[in-house]
Amino acid sequence: MSDAGRKPLIGIIGGSGLYDIAGLEDKRWERVSTPWGETSDELLFGTLDGVSVVFLPRHGREHRISPTDLNYRANIDALKRVGVTDVLALSAVGSLRADLPPGHFVIVDQFIDRTFARPKSFFGAGCVAHVSMADPVCSRLGDALEAAARGLDVPVTRGGTYLAMEGPQFSTRAESNLYRSWGCSVIGMTNMPEAKLAREAELCYATVAMVTDYDCWHDDHDAVTVEQVVKVLHGNADRVRALVRAVVPRLGGQAHGGERHDCPAGCDHALDHAII
Ligand code: ADE
Repeated sequence: MSDAGRKPLIGIIGGSGLYDIAGLEDKRWERVSTPWGETSDELLFGTLDGVSVVFLPRHGREHRISPTDLNYRANIDALKRVGVTDVLALSAVGSLRADLPPGHFVIVDQFIDRTFARPKSFFGAGCVAHVSMADPVCSRLGDALEAAARGLDVPVTRGGTYLAMEGPQFSTRAESNLYRSWGCSVIGMTNMPEAKLAREAELCYATVAMVTDYDCWHDDHDAVTVEQVVKVLHGNADRVRALVRAVVPRLGGQAHGGERHDCPAGCDHALDHAII
């Protein structure tokens, strides 16, 4: 479906440690029903510096849903249903590279999906679709995130591969080293199947992966603990808020009189040649 002429609407999925959007005006939390069941929480609608945004805390406001138990289909479907066009996924991750220390942000451009216990498609019963996942991240959103981060002096790397693991346990050292040998940059538990479902829903999708730890492969660092993840997340909170505030006007469509053009990366046409 073409998005040309539609208003852009930015959806923000907040990961661990991000349960609200600072500076949001005209706030209202609203439950959105989906055929896939319950979303993680109500959706938070509001405007940020005059631009409409919709926020969803991925694990719920009380962080009570584990990565495996998240209803990814309901979450993405609800965002689509309320008119979201662009999804920014904010996620805590472990680092698999020495040059990506805790506190660093990575705008990933690839994923390896090692999850195995989650429904991963909207299609199946009576209608088969095979969307391309060759370029899973929308380069237009990536450009906007990179420009916003550089303007804020946030330590950021553009590009990198996110290994999505099932969890909830962290990796063994052998697994961590295996993923390093595959050239992966960061590891997390939630961006798959989120990115796949966003593509099936013809939504633009990009991830800001916020490094909280060195997982367990690094000889000079202790293996990751929840305590460490939470500590770094709290340290990052102001920078994440600033990044959201800086990127939203860039995506708000002001440059086109508030209207949206077709996605140059083709995310909004993902189903055109996908259905058998
Ligand atoms: N989220 C934050 N740190 C992580 C790690 N080391 N592994 C998986 N998910 C994470």
